[in-house]
Amino acid sequence: MEDKPKLPPEDQTVDSLLRPSHWDEYIGQDKVKKNLHIILEAAKKRQEACDHLLFYGQAGLGKTTLAHLVAKEMGANIKTTSGPALEKMGDLAAVLTNLERSDVLFIDEAHRLNKTIEEVLYPAMESRKLHLMVGKGPAARMLTIDLPAFTLIAATTRANLLSGPLRSRFGASFKLDYYENSDIEAIIKRSAKVLNLKISQDAIRVIAGAARFTPRVANRILRRVRDYAEVNSAAVIDEEVAKKTLEMLEVDKLGLEPHDRRLLEVIIKKFHGGPVGAATLAAALNDDRGNIEDIYEPYLMSIGLLARTPAGRVATEAAYEHLGIPDPGAKLI
Ligand SMILES: Nc1ncnc2c1ncn2[C@@H]1O[C@H](COP(=O)(O)OP(=O)(O)OP(=O)(O)O)[C@@H](O)[C@H]1O
Ligand SMILES: [Mg+2]
Repeated sequence: MEDKPKLPPEDQTVDSLLRPSHWDEYIGQDKVKKNLHIILEAAKKRQEACDHLLFYGQAGLGKTTLAHLVAKEMGANIKTTSGPALEKMGDLAAVLTNLERSDVLFIDEAHRLNKTIEEVLYPAMESRKLHLMVGKGPAARMLTIDLPAFTLIAATTRANLLSGPLRSRFGASFKLDYYENSDIEAIIKRSAKVLNLKISQDAIRVIAGAARFTPRVANRILRRVRDYAEVNSAAVIDEEVAKKTLEMLEVDKLGLEPHDRRLLEVIIKKFHGGPVGAATLAAALNDDRGNIEDIYEPYLMSIGLLARTPAGRVATEAAYEHLGIPDPGAKLI
């Protein structure tokens, strides 16, 4: 898989502007917040570094934001790296030996850590020891370095790819789920306020409907809506502006993009609605199987347009209806 695409500079600025920096701005995910608070309060009371934490869930649901909030709550510095950046043992050794007491080490895309790195991480997480092999052949020896008390926070979109031993070394794991529609509306409202936008409730509803229950998508659409309003000299963002923007972006009212619709169309037209296996589907779409399984499918399943069966993927009746294709399997009245 490729590295994440970088946002253009203007979007990066807006992105950091919109990122919650207090717990009360972090909307939704109440269960996660509640459980995290217990862990953080306990650690603070004991005046210890907080336990190692794992955050997993779809892209854009707020894992990185949460890691920053945890560090802030603990009054700790956060040092950030990622699975693909820690290629060699020396990379990890450099990061670990740079840690100071109580620091938070944030490892993004943790599913991309390689085996060697993982094995060096285990003792570092468990007993704060860094074991390094120095030299080669008969002269080789193990060097052990004591590390300060630190908190590892790992984030991943693919928890199933983390090895069992790594996963078991986190004191707590938190799964971020898709947001409630009302939370997404609240996030859009807050973002509009931060960006000083006048927006109608109807426009918020339209944007939320297309936001795939994901804060990052909601904010991204809001930015495009803002552009559209600016170019068209609309003083207020109303339903019309929001709908026109979505049309321009080729995002439909359920938040499906062209590749989502193509996936459903291929299942329906080429494979008679399914079932079709993931590999066959990936080949027919000329797309990466990982993208299909991790990005497109979870959302399509969550809104009931796609089902995974043991025999493969199936387009549901709702998918036929959404695409306006007659369903040959539907009962005639
Ligand atoms: N609970 C929330 N309340 C308000 N805004 C949020 C919330 N969660 C995320 N956001 C917004 O969505 C954006 C994306 O969140 P974040 O970068 O933390 O997601 P992520 O899970 O780390 O994504 P990725 O897997 O791609 O790294 C943030 O910049 C922030 O503006
Ligand atoms: Mg992130």
